[in-house]
Amino acid sequence: MLYSLYQPLIRPCLFTMDPEKAHNLTMKMMKIASRSQLLTSLVSQEVEARPRKVMGLDFKNPVGLAAGLDKDGEAIDAFAALGFGFIEVGTVTPKPQPGNDKPRLFRVVPAEGLINRMGFNNLGVDNLVENIKKSRYKGILGVNIGKNKTTPIEDSVSDYLYCLEKVYNYASYVAVNISSPNTPNLRTLQLGDALVELVQALKKKQKELAEANKKYVPIAIKIAPDLNDEEIENICRIFLENEVDGIIATNTTLDRDMIANMPHATETGGLSGRPEFRKSTDVLAKINKIINGRIPIIGVGGIDSPMAAAEKIKNGASLVQIYSGFIYKGPTLIKNIVNYL
Ligand SMILES: Cc1cc2nc3c(=O)[nH]c(=O)nc-3n(C[C@H](O)[C@H](O)[C@H](O)COP(=O)(O)O)c2cc1C
Repeated sequence: MLYSLYQPLIRPCLFTMDPEKAHNLTMKMMKIASRSQLLTSLVSQEVEARPRKVMGLDFKNPVGLAAGLDKDGEAIDAFAALGFGFIEVGTVTPKPQPGNDKPRLFRVVPAEGLINRMGFNNLGVDNLVENIKKSRYKGILGVNIGKNKTTPIEDSVSDYLYCLEKVYNYASYVAVNISSPNTPNLRTLQLGDALVELVQALKKKQKELAEANKKYVPIAIKIAPDLNDEEIENICRIFLENEVDGIIATNTTLDRDMIANMPHATETGGLSGRPEFRKSTDVLAKINKIINGRIPIIGVGGIDSPMAAAEKIKNGASLVQIYSGFIYKGPTLIKNIVNYL
């Protein structure tokens, strides 16, 4: 009932506000809703179970919340109550950082897209872990990790290892973000020797932590949609050689062809939402062709309908995630996708 009002009433109100202010207000409400079981029940949505086993983990349904919405894990219980099959929090970095100057989030309303250059604004990994400890959520929780802006790109590995160690015991899986366009040079970690060095270091640390904690936590790596065929082939080869547990395809795009002449089209940052769907799904399909079922893939980028989610699955995704579609369509999108798949 509440959620049928999202598109006719709640969204128009939120869309009169500056996008980041609307985001902060929504997060404030979700944080309040997370405070107690009673408050959480007020936002809860009944979504049927559609269990999936992926990366050795049991997912209640295949529709997850993508990284970046609840960066600090402040409202895990409320987001879970909306019916998501899994929640990914972060990106968090070792130390807190403010992110880029505002404004840094823009709506491209005619195309139902978003452009963001947030720049990993977050309160740091220790704060995230404290928030996870406080939450009552028992489902699948991904923790997405990144590097601080002030860490030189050649020293990135230490930031990722630091975060991996901190979150290891509190995450169902760890997502490694090397694909945000808003941290200088971050995407170079997707290429050649830099990727080999990072993946090998992560897998070595994972092995040590698994032995020490008697618990294996899968590592999924999140990649960009702006990769050529050769880069995709190399990434897949490195992932296969090093037995990466999962691939998240994709982050936002730098491409603006799909929104030429639309409002905010020239803002720098990553484009997400419906205009990203084709590009993101093409990359997913190319990865799937090479990987051929050997590593599970989480499909994300431009899902705004059950049909779009089904197309991700058809092109090789075992699970899907949503962010922008959730902003434009509201929580009923979760239920509609789950029922359709
Ligand atoms: C405002 C905003 C912030 C984001 N922050 C992150 C982030 O911190 N880490 C990350 O891995 N992805 C981040 N993303 C990317 C999303 O997780 C997702 O990969 C992308 O938006 C494509 O999905 P969508 O079309 O459903 O939005 C962010 C996206 C948006 C719109």
